[in-house]
Amino acid sequence: MSTKTHWDKAWKGADPAGKSWYQEEAGHSLEMIEASAIAHGEAIIDVGGGASVLVDALLDRGFQNLSVLDISKAALQSAQARLGLRADNVKWLCEDATSWTPAHPFRLWHDRAVFHFLTDAKDRQKYREIAQANIVPGGHLIMATFAMDGPEKCSGLPVQRYSAQSMATEMGDGFSLIEDRVEAHITPGGSIQKFQYCRFLRV
Ligand SMILES: C[S@@+](CC[C@H](N)C(=O)[O-])C[C@H]1O[C@@H](n2cnc3c(N)ncnc32)[C@H](O)[C@@H]1O
Repeated sequence: MSTKTHWDKAWKGADPAGKSWYQEEAGHSLEMIEASAIAHGEAIIDVGGGASVLVDALLDRGFQNLSVLDISKAALQSAQARLGLRADNVKWLCEDATSWTPAHPFRLWHDRAVFHFLTDAKDRQKYREIAQANIVPGGHLIMATFAMDGPEKCSGLPVQRYSAQSMATEMGDGFSLIEDRVEAHITPGGSIQKFQYCRFLRV
């Protein structure tokens, strides 16, 4: 099954609040975005945003140049339906994060629980090349993946787990690690999943 088919099946008709990765509030992401001191007009993208409520919170805070990318149209439609008319203030990109061409660069790039699905080194390289070429120098990259003691699978797919150090090595010289933290995410089913968050400066 292709990645796109997998995720469209996972999202179609699903209640986002029942998904293991669901958060009522994207607290760590918001704190890291605030620490990045991004001006309201600067371009922010949530890569693999799915039906995350992060975009709602960014709209609430006055950010005006927001994009949400996801491989699944069903995921994007779920977020759009929740936002109603406010969805018109966001660019919705139905793309594969390993093979797309951004229309403009970003000051902040956020990814929670997408990069860790890239278990093939070639896909990680393609993703990294797109991020490197499209985050402006001085901009920020926030990556959240399962931590080293996090689950080995998500949505039935194997994942690559990271420490802050291994993520810094993965991202290479173009990114300088400036903040890292671990989240003990509680799933809707009540189990704990450890996430590793890293914030990088594009140098
Ligand atoms: C585990 S969910 C996380 C969703 C959201 N970031 C959150 O924290 O709630 C992973 C998301 O990544 C999307 N996805 C998976 N592989 C992708 C890819 N190669 N390109 C773009 N999106 C992808 C899925 O459709 C899904 O919405």
